[in-house]
Amino acid sequence: MADNQKRILLTGATGYIGGRLRRRLEAESRELRCLARRPEALEPQVARGTEVVYGDLLRPETLPAAMRGISTACYLVHSMASGGDFAREDREAARAFASAARAAGVERIVYLGGLGSEDALSDHLASRQEVGRILRDSGAQTIELRASIIIGSGSLSFEMIRALVERLPVMVTPRWVRTLAQPIAVEDVIDYLVDAIDAPAGRSLVLEVGGADRVSYGDIMAEYARQRGLHRVMIAVPVLSPRLSSLWLALVTPLQARVGRKLVESLRNETTVGDPSGAEIFDIRPCGLAEAIRQALAEEEREIAQTRWPKAS
Ligand SMILES: NC(=O)c1ccc[n+]([C@@H]2O[C@H](COP(=O)([O-])OP(=O)(O)OC[C@H]3O[C@@H](n4cnc5c(N)ncnc54)[C@H](OP(=O)(O)O)[C@@H]3O)[C@@H](O)[C@H]2O)c1
Repeated sequence: MADNQKRILLTGATGYIGGRLRRRLEAESRELRCLARRPEALEPQVARGTEVVYGDLLRPETLPAAMRGISTACYLVHSMASGGDFAREDREAARAFASAARAAGVERIVYLGGLGSEDALSDHLASRQEVGRILRDSGAQTIELRASIIIGSGSLSFEMIRALVERLPVMVTPRWVRTLAQPIAVEDVIDYLVDAIDAPAGRSLVLEVGGADRVSYGDIMAEYARQRGLHRVMIAVPVLSPRLSSLWLALVTPLQARVGRKLVESLRNETTVGDPSGAEIFDIRPCGLAEAIRQALAEEEREIAQTRWPKAS
């Protein structure tokens, strides 16, 4: 049973995951405070009762006021869109957040990071796991959920796949299309985050979460094409390096090249669940790839319909 009296601090509420979590928590009438670098952009979107405060994790002096009276703080932030050294910025952001949480007596931190257990993790995945360690060092009980690619309209990694499949009838595909992932539907991720907020007090946990299917990135593209009724040909070549792949992505997708490049370097790392037992404390049965893509496309259809006929909806 949710404790609706707990005050929750949400970071990343202008982002993809944080925005969806905000709407879910508002639908459940939780006491919510959102920290945003541009509160004026977020304020018009939030429900009555949701507090929006200015804060920037890279400006530690802005954090004590945001943390005051908070029992659970959600960390849904990354610096990959910044032009600087994202690993350094994410380290600084996590340290500032952890230190402010400790000083304010926050009981729990909930963090969504990335799967990957190989020795040679990409800079992006290694940084996501470093952030988890820093948050645990705060002394607050930290629940770190680790996920692979999140399937949903607006999720950066899903949008990369969509852009490629929609634009290119014939794809010369680099080696990473064979890397295994465990894509998860965004609604399942939100369920896990809400359960992590509501879990009974205890020790810090790292929980690996994934959808029902282990598939390659090529399989994800093929399933997307199948559901969209697109005939696509993939020609695998062994020679494209991650760097070349990222240049290739920058050419064919509308995403900022710098975010795409950092993400694409992670595509060489397998992101599957090694130990599912931790996440089994939650009663969630994530769906498989086909259903996750079906949900993403169906949601888009609804959004398009609402934009076209706002009065009718
Ligand atoms: N999407 C996926 O497929 C996926 C998969 C696995 C894990 N995750 C994890 O999920 C979390 C959220 O990712 P997302 O996909 O929702 O990212 P996103 O859409 O790019 O959102 C990032 C958020 O971080 C905020 N932010 C960045 N720097 C900040 C700072 N210095 N201070 C305060 N806020 C700052 C941004 O705010 P502004 O609006 O001010 O820029 C934005 O709200 C991340 O930890 C990510 O690793 C995502």
